Amino acid sequence: MVIQKNRENLPWVEKYRPSSLDEVNGQNDIVSTVRKFVHEGKLPHLLFYGPPGTGKTSTIIALAKEIYGSNYRNMVLELNASDDRGIDVVRNQIKEFASTMQIFSKGFKLIILDEADAMTSTAQNSLRRIIEKYTKNTRFCILANYAHKLNPALVSRCTRFRFSPISQEAVNTTIATVITKEKLKISSDAIESLCTLARGDMRKALNVLQACKASLQDDNDEIDTNMIYNCIGAAHPKDIEAVLDSILQDEWTSSYNTISICKREKGLALIDLLSGFVSILNKYELKPATRIEILRGLSDIEYAISKAGSDKIQTSAVIAVIKSAMEHEKK
Ligand SMILES: Nc1ncnc2c1ncn2[C@@H]1O[C@H](COP(=O)(O)OP(=O)(O)OP(=O)(O)O)[C@@H](O)[C@H]1O
Ligand SMILES: [Mg+2]
Repeated sequence: MVIQKNRENLPWVEKYRPSSLDEVNGQNDIVSTVRKFVHEGKLPHLLFYGPPGTGKTSTIIALAKEIYGSNYRNMVLELNASDDRGIDVVRNQIKEFASTMQIFSKGFKLIILDEADAMTSTAQNSLRRIIEKYTKNTRFCILANYAHKLNPALVSRCTRFRFSPISQEAVNTTIATVITKEKLKISSDAIESLCTLARGDMRKALNVLQACKASLQDDNDEIDTNMIYNCIGAAHPKDIEAVLDSILQDEWTSSYNTISICKREKGLALIDLLSGFVSILNKYELKPATRIEILRGLSDIEYAISKAGSDKIQTSAVIAVIKSAMEHEKK
């Protein structure tokens, strides 16, 4: 039986993982710098850090493919969080790989340590020595979300690159390719909301798009803004405005009911409403003091929710904060 590599069934984040550095969007400076290192034959140890879904893993894998081509399997060791990351792995697996010389191929081997901030500090410590010992024929690339969770001595051995959240235009470029390849029908408003709501996380954008496609009744239906908001679990600005209007105009009980109905029907949590309020607050003309009062109040409520405060009390507190700030606004 011939085993076919079926890319069709893969989740889109894997199906559309950049296969070359040219397909990595929105990290142009980093891509051109690491490319230059490779062309000059002066690749240092690398540290890529930054928020999830910004292309760290994709960039190093694409770079390794560019360097090694078909020899990738022999020259690259990938270790990621699903592996056992204790001290033994570092001592044995890395040592074994790094110390065997390739007789026929010149150049260095590459060890990719994905999610290195999850490694125990003992393992990180023993890595310092290993990096120094094998620098002659090996380069390390350390990937992490938070540089501060890494041993400073480890960080200082690497050239650092911070992957910032991907710009909306770059998210748009990648999304546009996927839309064409998957022959999706999607409104331009929906694309715009998707790119904004992804907040620089390309993985999130692709996953939400795939979820929307899956929820279509008929493959020929169009994906609209509402579906994007539903899949991402964010409150639609229209719903937030309706709730806010009710708090401003209605008396207490009906405001409370409007919030409860919105939460129930849209499947939102109070915390989603809070972020919604904060993001549309800029649209309202308010005295600075009022704005500060509302923001301070909402942030206290957010903290209380994170400490498992009662939903009923916190919902009432939201109404109280906004109503009382508006009373002061009038004075
Ligand atoms: N800059 C980018 N250009 C194109 N696609 C990207 C980019 N960044 C991320 N992606 C897409 O998102 C998916 C996840 O990206 P990747 O695994 O590289 O993120 P990461 O930065 O390693 O995140 P994490 O910190 O969670 O490991 C990729 O498979 C790819 O489809
Ligand atoms: Mg990664």
